[in-house]
Amino acid sequence: MNPDELKRQAAEAALAYVDGGVIGVGTGSTVNQFIDVLAGIKHRIEGAVSSSEASTARLKQHGIPVFDLNAVGELALYVDGADESNARLELIKGGGGALTREKIVAAASRSFVCIADESKLVEVLGQFPLPVEVIPMARSLVARELVRLGGTPVWREGYVTDNGNLILDVQNLVITDPVGLEQQINALAGVVTVGLFAQRPADVLILGSAQGPRTLQ
Ligand code: 5RP
Repeated sequence: MNPDELKRQAAEAALAYVDGGVIGVGTGSTVNQFIDVLAGIKHRIEGAVSSSEASTARLKQHGIPVFDLNAVGELALYVDGADESNARLELIKGGGGALTREKIVAAASRSFVCIADESKLVEVLGQFPLPVEVIPMARSLVARELVRLGGTPVWREGYVTDNGNLILDVQNLVITDPVGLEQQINALAGVVTVGLFAQRPADVLILGSAQGPRTLQ
């Protein structure tokens, strides 16, 4: 099976968790597949809260209403992809640059179902460069602090987030304490969000595989 087929498989398996109401929807190629299959059962939901302009556009193309998070309160379910997950369902996210809104929607949701192809499951997080969203004037300051923490930050040049900020992708990290590192990076002045989802990990991880969808929880 090719990567798109594995993502589709995980996306279809996530439909089992949809139980009406307003669904939190993440960002990325796997979530795009989820939005496409969600369209087939759109009569069973009220709509979605979206984590990016890109997902909002795709949801609307399918005729799925998109709500402001402030208008709906707590969500029962959030479905999103990941760049890496460990066996504790702690994640690296933000390859698509939507990490801040993703973290907000995840925090507002009772259950976070993460969908991915099986290549995203790793023993130790950090092979995928860790995205950090920063306020533009703090880019160099934060980069120097990230070097002190042992990483090699690389500015994602030419990219601006939906919130008008910049991304530093931090290479060469071996993340053995995801919760601690998330707290440390979040505490740096100028950091908006770090793409570590460890304080609030996923509740369920569905991995597309040649043997069929595999669920970890
Ligand atoms: C976007 C994300 C995505 O969920 C992550 O990059 C995975 O994307 P894909 O499903 O395309 O592999 O965090 O900010």
